[in-house]
Amino acid sequence: MLAERLRTLAPSSTLAVQAKARELRARGVDVISFGAGEPDFDTPQRIKDAAIEAMRRGQTKYTEVGGVPELRAAVCAKFRRDQGLAYEPADVLISVGAKHALFNWVVAQIDPGDEVLVPSPFWVSYPEQLRLVGGVPVAVPTAERTGFDLDPAALRRAVTARTKAIVLNSPNNPTGAVFSPRALEEVARLVVERDLFVVSDECYEALTYEGRHISIASLGPELKARTLVVNTCSKAYAMTGWRIGFAAGPRALIRAMTDVQSQVTSNPSSIAQWAAVEALSGSQDEVAKMAGEFDRRRRLIVAGLNALPGVSCGMPKGAFYAFADVSGLFGRTWTAPDGARTTLRSSLDVTAFLLEAARVAVVPGLDFGSDAHVRLSYATSDALIREGLERMGAALGLL
Ligand SMILES: Cc1ncc(COP(=O)(O)O)c(C=O)c1O
Repeated sequence: MLAERLRTLAPSSTLAVQAKARELRARGVDVISFGAGEPDFDTPQRIKDAAIEAMRRGQTKYTEVGGVPELRAAVCAKFRRDQGLAYEPADVLISVGAKHALFNWVVAQIDPGDEVLVPSPFWVSYPEQLRLVGGVPVAVPTAERTGFDLDPAALRRAVTARTKAIVLNSPNNPTGAVFSPRALEEVARLVVERDLFVVSDECYEALTYEGRHISIASLGPELKARTLVVNTCSKAYAMTGWRIGFAAGPRALIRAMTDVQSQVTSNPSSIAQWAAVEALSGSQDEVAKMAGEFDRRRRLIVAGLNALPGVSCGMPKGAFYAFADVSGLFGRTWTAPDGARTTLRSSLDVTAFLLEAARVAVVPGLDFGSDAHVRLSYATSDALIREGLERMGAALGLL
């Protein structure tokens, strides 16, 4: 019944955890979730007001496929303001979230058999989207001792005659790495030398707490000509549900991606686009406030995780995830209240144990390319972070 390409689409083990958490909640068990990939803040009022105004003005019809000119101009102004990057509206595409922009990219540029280097750990959708169009994702490890910084030498070794592109994601989901200027410059040299293309997913740019966010596209005209920069309103403006992402890059590629979008979704919601104009162009005060709050919470959660026996966690520099090494728990055995004994051997086992024994939901690292880790989102209140850590501490005492 299903297409061949669906054979390779990995069912997400994170969904299994979420389903289990939902089932427990439905039975009245209160589960603390560190699973969310979205800010716990509300969308700022000025942005909601802009959406209401757009509806009042009747801006409720189809728009240009690639987004209203005002939003593409606002995206250009954002790139100039934050990265010193000069794009024109024709170099910009507005999509239904960054995820959609990335999918438009794989359809527009990746042929079956093309290899794409994906530094690992990685965001789960890159390999899945690539495989859907017959691309070959090649995971290139980064090391925890470097704070999961890019490893230019490993990337160089991974390049073959079939390598078409590299996907960079800084600040990184799930590791929280902010790639160093030195590593980015080395990768930039490799890209030009080997005539590669770069997709730079900068969705967490506004949530950079240490180091400085650098777009590889800003490292010179040769890089800008070979880079698609992808960003979103989702994280910086707490707008995950509005579904506005954007991409900027070489005009021919943007045109091709827009053509793909024209046959699949047409424009993103007109109302959400006008909200995004306000998000990008209005006062950026709330962004800094939210980032300050996440910065404080990351210290709270990382200190708490490192106090747990068998768990260690480096300090993330950006985004809102702690990526904790739980391999110190492997080999320990847990006896459930019903007498069932389980020896923890993987991130999935640890995730299931924390859910059952601590009523805490985390995401297994396996899907992100590391079975030694679990991911915890700290986009949640101090009180829940404290309570979740306490519950985990008590559960680990049972091992
Ligand atoms: C690294 C990364 N890229 C892209 C996205 C997609 O964001 P959206 O489609 O909401 O713009 C996410 C969301 O979790 C992400 O973590």
